[in-house]
Amino acid sequence: MHHFRYTGPNLQCESVDLAEVARLYGTPTYVYSAATMADNYARLAGSLTGLDVQLCYAMKANSNLAVLRHFANLGAAFDLVSGGELRRVIAAGADVKRSVFAGVGKTEGEIKLALENGIFSFHVESEPELARINHVAGQLGVKAPIAIRINPDVDAHTHAKITTGKSDNKFGIPLKYAAAAYEAAAKYPYLALKGVQMHIGSQLTEVGPFVEAVGKVAPFAAELKAKFGISYFSIGGGIGIVYREALASGAQTWWDTQPEGTRPLTPEVYGAALVPRLKGLGLKILLEPGRFMVGNAGVLLSRVEHLKRGAGKNFLIVDAAMNDLVRPAMYESYHEIVPLHRDSSRRALVADVVGPICESGDCFAKDRQLQEVGEGELIAFMSAGAYGYAMSSRYNTRGMAAEVLVKDSAFELINGRETFEQMTGGEKIPAFLK
Ligand code: LLP
Repeated sequence: MHHFRYTGPNLQCESVDLAEVARLYGTPTYVYSAATMADNYARLAGSLTGLDVQLCYAMKANSNLAVLRHFANLGAAFDLVSGGELRRVIAAGADVKRSVFAGVGKTEGEIKLALENGIFSFHVESEPELARINHVAGQLGVKAPIAIRINPDVDAHTHAKITTGKSDNKFGIPLKYAAAAYEAAAKYPYLALKGVQMHIGSQLTEVGPFVEAVGKVAPFAAELKAKFGISYFSIGGGIGIVYREALASGAQTWWDTQPEGTRPLTPEVYGAALVPRLKGLGLKILLEPGRFMVGNAGVLLSRVEHLKRGAGKNFLIVDAAMNDLVRPAMYESYHEIVPLHRDSSRRALVADVVGPICESGDCFAKDRQLQEVGEGELIAFMSAGAYGYAMSSRYNTRGMAAEVLVKDSAFELINGRETFEQMTGGEKIPAFLK
């Protein structure tokens, strides 16, 4: 379960009043619940009992150092996709040696950095990448551990921008060419074949595509084990979370609120479907969940600037914008919007909830019904812990939001609001303009 609740009229994260956080640190501010992340970790790990599981948190979802340290303390390793993310793992005091490095375009510099820090494995997406990793490993005189990402050509039934397992995506090597790719990899002197990988997309809302993909790749994994002695199979991430009614249900996934037997994708459903298909392989199973671990563990706090009543349309103009939370603008995604102070005597308001950025795309919700709120009042965007801050930008010269971590009744700033000086510190006016 997530740990955001109304206590009386006030929205709390664990035992902390969110209005108090906004008062101290201003808005827009992301607030994360340590207990929710811990519950998510325990629940997912617990749903796969009987397997030798290594959970590699997909840190692209939320890579704040405090979040990484929290997961590391819980026992997680990391799925990283850049030299910057690798340096974050180190800076968080966490273990690169159990972490995997994914992505279609790793640079030579990034490969070197990963090898020097003893990366557990590279997830390789193409044959030219095999040659590049072999080359860098040769220069260092080491063997690079690798797994090849298989594209199983499965429809994940998710948003087009976040589906990855179809053959027309840029990701992985099609199953029919994978045997040849492993043969080629085995010939490189500086590569060690450690595993096989797949990831079919993000925000999946049913277990079927996972079952189909594992069904396609598991027999191949068994062949690779027999032939090359691989030791692991990474089944990727992608477990979806609830965005609608996230708060009202109090549930980690909306499906938790549905009768048993009609829940298309909870960790338990995932585990029950996949454990029997993976158990017999005798391989370590890697998971790369991102959104599931942090999505419902975070909210974005914002303050109302104005309620603008238009002709037939109301606009609630708030101080958060698409630069802070881009998901609605980018994927038309839904985030529940709730007041920090609930007041049942208020009238309902139907409004477009928008930010102050100068383009129409800066819109969080169209014709959303919520309690009437006015200037200065506080609201929260729910389910914003994953791909929220991590995807934010400085568009319109708006500094990056602040981030706060809550644990029980304690809370601390884990990332200060970006100042103008920090934002412009790297810029300079060239001599020829002076
Ligand atoms: N493994 C690989 C290889 C991935 O590419 C991803 C996500 C994950 C694991 C983690 O997937 P998750 O468990 O979080 O679904 N920005 C988008 C989501 C992009 C996902 C990219 N890859 C959004 O806001 O919905």
